[in-house]
Amino acid sequence: MKRICVLPGDGIGPEVIEAAVTVLQAATDELEIEYAEIGGAAYDKTGSYLPDETMDIMRASDSCLFGAVTTPPTLDYDSPVLRFRKELELFANVRPIRSIIRQPTRPPIDAVIVRENSEGLYTQNEVFDDEGVTTLRKVTRKGCERIVGFAIDYAHAHDRKRITCVHKSNVLRASDGLFVDVFRQVAESKGKGLAFDDQLVDSAAMKLVTSPSSFDVIVTLNLYGDILSDVAAGVAGGLGFAPSGNIGKKHSVFEPAHGSAPDIAGSDVANPTAAILAGAMMLEHLGMTEPATAIRDSVSSVYGSGHLTVDVGGRHGTKSFAEHVASMVADSRQ
Ligand code: NAI
Ligand code: MG
Repeated sequence: MKRICVLPGDGIGPEVIEAAVTVLQAATDELEIEYAEIGGAAYDKTGSYLPDETMDIMRASDSCLFGAVTTPPTLDYDSPVLRFRKELELFANVRPIRSIIRQPTRPPIDAVIVRENSEGLYTQNEVFDDEGVTTLRKVTRKGCERIVGFAIDYAHAHDRKRITCVHKSNVLRASDGLFVDVFRQVAESKGKGLAFDDQLVDSAAMKLVTSPSSFDVIVTLNLYGDILSDVAAGVAGGLGFAPSGNIGKKHSVFEPAHGSAPDIAGSDVANPTAAILAGAMMLEHLGMTEPATAIRDSVSSVYGSGHLTVDVGGRHGTKSFAEHVASMVADSRQ
């Protein structure tokens, strides 16, 4: 049995997470699920966006599945996502993005973005002064070594062939320069059997749109990875198709890459694919390869048989799509 902490959150979070849990339960009887509060709903009840009780449940679990939270407009808001990433030391953010549906106007993509998840601009070190605000951006040698090492291990484990380091070292010569130097050193010492190259982030963004098949694994810094993964998701059909995993040495939290989408919340039109595939990533991370594969194959088959979600021009709402996937997963177990 694996103990899973499920954090539905705000907006479409609870809708897509309910869909993912339906599919996970069809795939395996080996999960013991405990729900915990995060985001606006937690704040209304407890005065905290991430109550200590939630952190305790997350720490005690084998892994976590999280929906999304809505960011309130207040300046003193302490992001629960950044807090759990920091406290659980989830230094790697992995976002596999693959075209599942055929799109006549877009080239296919099958790339994995490995994003540094603990440093960069996301330490939120912003200081007001007379002129405005100065934001400090931290790039450490240890952080770079750790994320590049992770990307190499990931590529070996997932039969990926090439790693592209994406950076902006032509402008940020010291910080991004350090990242590229470390990338080359670690590639040299640990990267046997893999090909390596590097690209500036602006042209990489363009190429993700025009020739996405030129990418395999991308390793990049925090902000670039955040932005590029939404670009890549757009190429694959939209944010409803991009799962992600926050991974550390001890803990892990899997989530769809999208946010709480208040514009569509409560209307059963959110695409649950990203959340369902985040569930599959979680199972794989826990060593439950068979149900993980069954979920991925079933998602592809459901789309392949013409059952499309609303975001890509189909009629299936969140619930009915998840039910189709769950019944296909259940059939595959017989
Ligand atoms: P968003 O990712 O929530 O939505 C962007 C656009 O994509 C919207 O038009 C939305 O309807 C659409 N979309 C997103 N997920 C979808 C899905 N599963 N199916 C169909 N369409 C989908 O980003 P946005 O609008 O910039 O942010 C909304 C809120 O979410 C903000 O408060 C933001 O701070 C928060 N957010 C939270 C994240 C998290 O909890 N990890 C990550 C990103 C944003
Ligand atoms: Mg994002």
